[in-house]
Amino acid sequence: MSPSSVFITGCNRGIGLELVRQFIVSESAPRHIFATYRTLSDELKKLGDENKNVHLIKMDVTDIPSYPAIVKQVDEVVGEAGLNLLINNAGLLPGPREYASTTPEFMRQAFEVNCIAPFFFTKAMFPLIERAVKGSSEKGMSLRKGGVVQISTVLASVTETTGGIYPYRCSKSALNMSMKSMSQDLKDTGVLILAVHPGWVRTDMGGPNGQMSTEESCKSLLKTFAEVSDKDHGAFLHYENKPIPW
Ligand SMILES: NC(=O)c1ccc[n+]([C@@H]2O[C@H](COP(=O)([O-])OP(=O)(O)OC[C@H]3O[C@@H](n4cnc5c(N)ncnc54)[C@H](OP(=O)(O)O)[C@@H]3O)[C@@H](O)[C@H]2O)c1
Repeated sequence: MSPSSVFITGCNRGIGLELVRQFIVSESAPRHIFATYRTLSDELKKLGDENKNVHLIKMDVTDIPSYPAIVKQVDEVVGEAGLNLLINNAGLLPGPREYASTTPEFMRQAFEVNCIAPFFFTKAMFPLIERAVKGSSEKGMSLRKGGVVQISTVLASVTETTGGIYPYRCSKSALNMSMKSMSQDLKDTGVLILAVHPGWVRTDMGGPNGQMSTEESCKSLLKTFAEVSDKDHGAFLHYENKPIPW
C-alpha cells in the first residue's frame, strides 16, 4: 500500500520521473503526488495533465528562501492529514571524476544540491510529516505513515570507495551523516528516516552502461519503501533492502 501523500524532488527526468509514474499506478495510489522540476519536461507535463493527484511544483532545491512558500503550498493541499513521505531525489554529479581535475567549485555545487538542500528541505517540510504521524493510528514506523528518504549512492560508502569522483562521493557521504544524525535527533517523532541507493541506473547521471533501467530500479525501490520499518530507522540501504557499509 502506498502513502497517502508523497513529495519527490527532481522529477522532470531520470529516477524521479519514474518514481512518479510508478506511484501513479501503484496499489491504492497516493491521493497527492507532489513532483518538482526546474524545467518542465514533456513527460512530466503529460503525467500532470492526465492525473489529478499529480501536483507539479517548480523548484530549484538550492533556493532555500523558496522553501516556506513550497511548504505552504503543500500544507494547503494536504491539510490536517499532513505529508506522509518526502523523497529527496534531486542530485548532481558535477565535473570530471579525477583527483587532479577536482575543483572547489565542483565540490561546492555538489554539497549545495546533494547535502545542504536535502537537509534544509527536510527541516522545512518536517512539521507536515510529523503531523501525518501524529494523526495516524497505525503502530510502529513506516514510510506509509510518515518518513523521509534521502536518495544516496553506494559511491558514498567510505568502506567501499575505489577513489575518484570527490565532489559527488563527499557530498553524498555528508548526506548520509546528516540523515543518520537526524534519525537520532528526531527519533521521538516517530518519523522514519533513511538513505537508499537506487542502483546503477541508466539515466543522464548513470550513463548508458548502467546495470538497470529506471523501471527496474523504481520497482525495487517501491518494494523496499513498503517493507522498511522501525529497525531501518537511520539505515543506509541498497535498493533491494540490504544494508550498505558506511
Ligand atoms: N543513476 C544512477 O546510477 C544513480 C546511482 C546512485 C544514486 N543516484 C541518485 O539518484 C538520484 C536521481 O538521479 P538520476 O540518475 O535520476 O539523475 P538525473 O537523470 O541526472 O536527474 C537528476 C535530477 O535532479 C534534478 N536536479 C539537479 N540539480 C537540481 C537543483 N539544483 N534543483 C532541482 N533539481 C535538481 C535534475 O533536474 P534538472 O533536469 O533541472 O537538472 C533531475 O531532475 C540522485 O540523487 C542521484 O545521486 C543515481
